[in-house]
Amino acid sequence: MLDLVYQKILKPIFFCFDPEFIHDFTMSSFLYLKPIYPLINLGFSHPDLQVKLAGKSLTSPIGLASGFDKNALYLDSIKALGFAFEEIGSVTRYPSIGNPKPRLFRLIEDEGLINRMGLNNLGIESISQRLLMSKHNFPYGINIAKTNNLAQPIDNEIEDILASFNYVKDLQCLYIAINLSCPNTKSGIIQEGKLINDLLKEIQQANSNNLPIFLKLSPDTSPDLVETFVDLGIRYNVQGYICGNTSVSRINLKTNSSLLTRYGNGGLSGKPIKQANLNLVRSVYKLKLADQEIIGCGGIFTGSDVFQYLIAGANVVQAYTGLIYQGPMFTQKANHKLLKLLNKYDLTVEKSIGILHDGFSFSDFP
Ligand SMILES: Cc1cc2nc3c(=O)[nH]c(=O)nc-3n(C[C@H](O)[C@H](O)[C@H](O)COP(=O)(O)O)c2cc1C
Repeated sequence: MLDLVYQKILKPIFFCFDPEFIHDFTMSSFLYLKPIYPLINLGFSHPDLQVKLAGKSLTSPIGLASGFDKNALYLDSIKALGFAFEEIGSVTRYPSIGNPKPRLFRLIEDEGLINRMGLNNLGIESISQRLLMSKHNFPYGINIAKTNNLAQPIDNEIEDILASFNYVKDLQCLYIAINLSCPNTKSGIIQEGKLINDLLKEIQQANSNNLPIFLKLSPDTSPDLVETFVDLGIRYNVQGYICGNTSVSRINLKTNSSLLTRYGNGGLSGKPIKQANLNLVRSVYKLKLADQEIIGCGGIFTGSDVFQYLIAGANVVQAYTGLIYQGPMFTQKANHKLLKLLNKYDLTVEKSIGILHDGFSFSDFP
C-alpha cells in the first residue's frame, strides 16, 4: 500500500521539485513521525539475512550510503526505514557549504542522479559532538574526507584528514571510511599511491582503539591504481574497501545529451553505474586478503542487485539512489526478494559472499 502511494502519488509530486530541496524537506518532515517510528517497522528480518561486518552482527546486509545523512541528523529515521546500518558523511575537518546550487539532478530515464554537492557538511567538531551525546544503538560508520573549502584551499591533506580522524577515533562506531574518491571537489579523486601510503601510516599510528578502517574507491580508478590501493590497504591492515563511489562517466545513458550538458559536471549514481561498481567489487575481491571485507555500492535497487553484489564478493551493500527511486519500502522489498533468492539456491547471506569466484558465473544464478 505504502509502496503504491509512493510510486503513484508522492514520487510524481516530489519529482516536480528540486531534488536537494525535496531531500531536506522529506527527511525533516519524517522527523515529526519519530514518536511512532517503533510502530512503522519497515524493516524485514530473518536469520538467513544476518551478516557480520567488522566483527559486529547486522540484521541484514543493506545499509545506507554516504551523502544521504551528512550531518548525522537522521539515524533514527534511517533505522525506521529498515536499513541495518548507515554511513554518516562525508564529514570534513572544517565546515563547508559545498558547491553552488543547483548541484543535484535526476536522470529519470536512466534511474540515476548527478551530484556535485562538494562535501557540504557541518564539520567534524559539531558532528562528532552530536554523536557523542546521542543515545541510539543504531550501527553507523563515519566517512571522512579532505575539507573542500573553496575560499581557503587546504595545503596539507594528510594533516586535514588526520585531524578529522582524531575527533572520531574514540566513538563507538562500526568503522571509519576514508573517502579517496570524491569527484566533486577541487582536488577530486586522490590518484596518488604515495599520498595514501603516508595517510594510512599516520592514521594507523593514531588508531589507538583499532577502529576498522575502510577505503572508499572510485569505479573510475585505473586497474593499476586499484591494485596499488589494495596493496596499501593490506600493508596498513585496513578492514576493507567500499566499492564504490559515483562515476564521472556519461556513457550509455538514455538521457539526452543537451540535458546532460545543462546539468554539467558531477558524479553519476544509480542504475547506470551498477556494472562498473560490480566489476570493481570483483577485482578487489581477487586482490584483497581473505579476512578483509568489501562494502558493495552503486545502482542497488532490488534484492537481485544485492544478491549479485554478495556473490561477486561484497560482505554487505549500501544504497542511496535506489532509495530515492524505490521509496520507503526499498529495504523491505529488497530484503524480501534477497531471502527468496537465498532460499532458491540454499544459501544464507554469509554463505553467498564471493561464491561467484568458485568457478560460477552470474548466469548460474538466474
Ligand atoms: C547526492 C549524493 C551525495 C553524495 N555524497 C557523498 C559523500 O559525501 N561522500 C561519499 O563518500 N559518497 C557520497 N555519495 C556517493 C554515494 O555514497 C554512493 O557511493 C554512490 O551514490 C553510489 O551508490 P548509489 O548508486 O546507490 O547511489 C553521494 C551520492 C549522492 C547521490
